[in-house]
Amino acid sequence: MNKSVFINTLKLHATVSEDCRRAITILRTGGLVALPTETVYGLAAHALCPLSIKKVFRAKGRPQNNPLILHTHDSVHARQLFTIHDENVVRRLELLSALWPGPLTIVAPKAAHIPLEATGGLEHVAVRIPRSKVTLDILQKLSFPLVMPSANLSTRPSPTEASHVLKTLHGRIEAVLDDGACEVGIESTVVRIDTLYPMILRPGHFDAVFLSQVLGEKVVYEKGNKHQPSCPGQAYVHYAPKVKEVIVADEMSFAREWFTKSSMLARKSDIEKIHREHGERHQEGLTLALSDEPHLFAQQLYGALYRCEDFAQEKVYILLPDGHGDVWNAIADRLKRSSGIL
Ligand code: TXA
Ligand code: MG
Repeated sequence: MNKSVFINTLKLHATVSEDCRRAITILRTGGLVALPTETVYGLAAHALCPLSIKKVFRAKGRPQNNPLILHTHDSVHARQLFTIHDENVVRRLELLSALWPGPLTIVAPKAAHIPLEATGGLEHVAVRIPRSKVTLDILQKLSFPLVMPSANLSTRPSPTEASHVLKTLHGRIEAVLDDGACEVGIESTVVRIDTLYPMILRPGHFDAVFLSQVLGEKVVYEKGNKHQPSCPGQAYVHYAPKVKEVIVADEMSFAREWFTKSSMLARKSDIEKIHREHGERHQEGLTLALSDEPHLFAQQLYGALYRCEDFAQEKVYILLPDGHGDVWNAIADRLKRSSGIL
């Protein structure tokens, strides 16, 4: 599939069994289908077929050395994607498998049959069992795992609705299977388990405190090395909406923008406070007041960033929510990256 070749992207529906069969046929014949997961929509392709994997990189405009996550439907199949000899690493895998299907990705040495094209040349592979029922059914019917990076053009926000997928990949992929909005809204926690301590490479729904309770041992965060992180994707621009500029502001500069036409994104209670203190916004600028509850904020996050693209000529000001805990940390990570801070 060449960048200049336009594909008529089919819009399929998860509730229509004929559409699900169509998605399976496309995947079996090497094509690309955006599938729903509980985190974000993923761009699915045959994970053992280098040609299909290459199409994923091309469709997303993704750097070749940024590895893909392999998805499968049960722990037995997941285990077969790794080569693990160390008993302690096997124990960690077994304990963490209890969180599957769910928003967790496990990184460990890869099985020999996993193509290096999928792992961006690394000897480690990332594996996840997603929780979406329709995608689990599809994975079960296929005799191979699927690679599924987020179904967006590289650098843009991840898609949490089928319409977001079409915003950046329409004409570049064979189909999208619409199953409504994603339940979690931000991508899985990525954890590497063959290090001295299990190491979180990308924050997500599950944090270090929770994972260390599951494992009965200390879990650490990777020390940020932007230029050579063990999670290569963390080195690139991410989640950036196509707008004039994205700025993470403090409360004072956020309030200063209140009467301009900039798009303003913050927690509902923070927006209400500024409203109380400074009065009504007179301009037709976009105001995005996201939930005070972190799981709901996460669900709304990428949709809000895509909404800002409707005002592409304006700047976006973000007030970081001052919250503690796993989901707020993951949200702050995504918001900072969208403005290029991290
Ligand atoms: O929730 C998710 O994880 C979604 C859904 C669709 O499953 N997928 C997703 O994939 O977010 P992607 O490609 O957008 O992000 C995967 C991240 C990247 O930062 C990549 O560098 C990292 O995981 N990764 C993949 N394989 C890895 C490996 N073998 N070692 C270290 N990091 C890896
Ligand atoms: Mg992504």
